[in-house]
Amino acid sequence: MLRGIISKRESELPPSAMGNLLKIAGEDKKIISLGPGEPDFLPPPGVISSVKRNAARATHYAPTEGIKELRRAVARKLRKENRISASADNVIITNGSNESIMITLMCTVDPGEEVLVPDPGFMDYRPVVEILNGYPIPYKISEEDNFELNPDLIRESINPGRTKVIVINTPSNPTGNVLKRKTLEEVADIAVDNNILVIADEAYEKFVYGKAKHVSMASLNGVQDNVITLQSFSKTYAMTGFRVGYSVGPGKIINAMKKVHIYTSISAPTLSQFAAVDALKTRKSYIEKARKGYERRGSLLHKRLEEMGLQCNTPEGAFYLFPNIKNLGVSSGKFSELMLKRAKVAILPGTEFGKHGEGFVRLSYATAYEKIVEAADRMEKAVKNMK
Ligand SMILES: Cc1ncc(COP(=O)(O)O)c(C=O)c1O
Repeated sequence: MLRGIISKRESELPPSAMGNLLKIAGEDKKIISLGPGEPDFLPPPGVISSVKRNAARATHYAPTEGIKELRRAVARKLRKENRISASADNVIITNGSNESIMITLMCTVDPGEEVLVPDPGFMDYRPVVEILNGYPIPYKISEEDNFELNPDLIRESINPGRTKVIVINTPSNPTGNVLKRKTLEEVADIAVDNNILVIADEAYEKFVYGKAKHVSMASLNGVQDNVITLQSFSKTYAMTGFRVGYSVGPGKIINAMKKVHIYTSISAPTLSQFAAVDALKTRKSYIEKARKGYERRGSLLHKRLEEMGLQCNTPEGAFYLFPNIKNLGVSSGKFSELMLKRAKVAILPGTEFGKHGEGFVRLSYATAYEKIVEAADRMEKAVKNMK
C-alpha cells in the first residue's frame, strides 16, 4: 500500500454524517428518512420526454459555459422572475449549483483569504473554502433572531484586506429561514462599502411559505457588480440526478469561471442541459403544486414537533425544520442516534451544519405526507421516553 498517498487536505476534511445516514437508511427498510434534502416529486413530464427525444443528439461535450439555448432561457427567467438584469453571456451552466460554489470560490479566493459562511449553514461552504486553502469564518445564525442573518455579526467578522467573500443562503438549508429584504439591503451595503463579493445561494428560491417572499440580492439597486447568484434545477424541478445548475454575475467573474470549468468537468451534461431548457417551459402550476405540497407537510411536522415539546421555528422556506432539542439534555448527535435506534427515523444533527448547530437537529420534509405522520408518531413515543 502506498504510504502518505492521501493528501493532508483530504485527510483533514470533516467526515459527513450524511453519507453514513444514507447507507443505514438504505439498508433498513423500516427506517423513515427525514435526512436528505431531495425532492420526492417526479420531474415535470416535459423533462422526461426531452430526455427521450434528445438522447441521440446529446452524446457530445457541451460548450464549457453551457448551451446557448439554455443560457438565453435562464437569463430570460432571471430577468422576469428574479429581477436580475442578466444576459446569456453573464450565465454559466454548471454540474448542479454545488459546482458553482466550488468554481466561484476557485476564481475569487487566494490561499489565506477569508470567506464568511453562515453557521449553521449548508455543509459544503466550509470544506470547499478549506480545500482552496482559504479560511472559512463562520458567522452565527441564532434562534433568538428567528434564524435571520444578523448584519452586525458580518460587520464584526470582516478582516480588512483579507475578507474576500460573504456567502448567504436564502431560503436556508438547514434552518428554513427566508432572508428579509431589509437584511439583504444591509448586507449588500456592507459588501459594496468593503469591496467584498457576495455569493447568494438561492437553490430553494421557489419554495417559500406563508408571508415569506424570496428576494434575490442581485436585484437590489447598485449591488449587482458585487453578487454572484447561484440557482439550480435540482430542487425546483426535482432534477437532482440531472446535475444542472448555474451562476449569474459580473462578466469578469463569469469569464474566469468559464476558464476554470474546463479543468473541473469541461461542461454540465449535454442531455441534462436540453432537459433544463424544457424544464423552464414547465407550467407554473407544476411548481405551485410542489410548493403547496411542501407547505402542507412542513406545517404538519412543525405542529407535531411543538406538541412533542420541541421548540421549532415556523417553516418559511426550503423543506427543512430545525427544532431545538436542548431541553432533552442530550447532544444533537446523541439525539439523532437515539431517533435512528429507537424510532427508526433518520434525521441530521445540527452540528453537521457548523458548531452553532449544537442543540438543534435538521428534519427534511421532502417525504410523503403519510410517512411524515408515521415518523412523527414514532418520534413522539421515543421523545416521551427520554423525559
Ligand atoms: C443550500 C444548497 N445549495 C446548493 C445545493 C447543491 O444542490 P445542487 O448541486 O443539486 O444544485 C444544495 C443541496 O442540497 C443546498 O442545500
